[in-house]
Amino acid sequence: MLSKQDITLLAIESSCDDTAAAVIHNGKMRSNVVASQEIHEQYGGVVPELASRAHQQHIVPVVDAALKQAGITKQQLSGIAFTQGPGLLGSLMVGASFAKSMALGLNIPLIAVNHLDAHVLAHFIGNNEPGFPFLSLLVSGGHTQIVKVNSPSDFEILGKTRDDAAGEAFDKTAKMLGLPYPGGPVLDKLASTGDPHKFQFPDSRVGELDFSFSGLKTAVLYFIRDQRSSNPEFVEQNLNDICASIQHTIVSYLMRKLKKAVDQTGIQEIALAGGVSANSYLRMRFQELAHARGWKVFVPALEYCTDNAAMIAQTAYFRFKEQQFADQDIVPYARMEK
Ligand code: KG4
Ligand code: ZN
Repeated sequence: MLSKQDITLLAIESSCDDTAAAVIHNGKMRSNVVASQEIHEQYGGVVPELASRAHQQHIVPVVDAALKQAGITKQQLSGIAFTQGPGLLGSLMVGASFAKSMALGLNIPLIAVNHLDAHVLAHFIGNNEPGFPFLSLLVSGGHTQIVKVNSPSDFEILGKTRDDAAGEAFDKTAKMLGLPYPGGPVLDKLASTGDPHKFQFPDSRVGELDFSFSGLKTAVLYFIRDQRSSNPEFVEQNLNDICASIQHTIVSYLMRKLKKAVDQTGIQEIALAGGVSANSYLRMRFQELAHARGWKVFVPALEYCTDNAAMIAQTAYFRFKEQQFADQDIVPYARMEK
């Protein structure tokens, strides 16, 4: 039996190619369901039109499964949350429209959640929480940022990418090597038996805490072309070493910027966030650096690294307690200057 003081929220995430729903009850995650869309593999990347259609097909069964796993009925919900952006507009609209209709039908509050805030706040799922202020290295398929998190609703962006995101650097270089989409996890696996120092690639010298990955992409493209011109089998013969060397370049660059952010702010509590934080080499190097420098660090469980609705539910729980509710005329956004 739920009491009037209970807070029970359903959250929906549909910003890219995963349809996800989760239920949080009084701050405790009760379910976390994700349906991934395999259709994009054959195209080597997410096709927005197909993603929106697949969300339409998945959303009802995914929401039903999340409620069922949580043992909660629709009538017991206190609010409905959805990802407002950033992401693919057509995909976001499916989740937003569904959440709006459900909130209207049940006459309960609607909560709009920023996808990036949610990646950062995923660390509050469970009992091992960072203390405020902490630094977050947010590395996903669409974003790369170093954020100073002052409170659940006060985020200061100290640095961000000027072109590609870290996840794109993984995915695009993996594509050049002929690996399937999404390339990040595949490259991670192949790199585990490769030599990270076999080949040298440049990283970018952009200022302060900003990032740039487009130079690495071009360097890998020319490297493959040049090597293939003298040996057509070069990539196949050296695949693991090439993967390990690319991964080493990306991760070393991220760690260099992070060290700089810690030196500048003096903040030594640091949390990884976003899909790329699933990378095994990044997780290892981050822990090594933390150990050497005495930082207190937080690495998300794998299920909360890549897109999921539990992180939306956790963020919605903070917003609900702050009474930050959305109106029915709210619209999703594809991008935001954060
Ligand atoms: O956070 P996320 O699921 O979606 C966005 O919000 O963008 O991140 C997806 C990104 C993709 O670029 C994917 O290749 C990357 O995270 N990724 C990885 C790994 N797992 C996911 N990159 C490197 N190594 C991994 N193990
Ligand atoms: Zn994401």
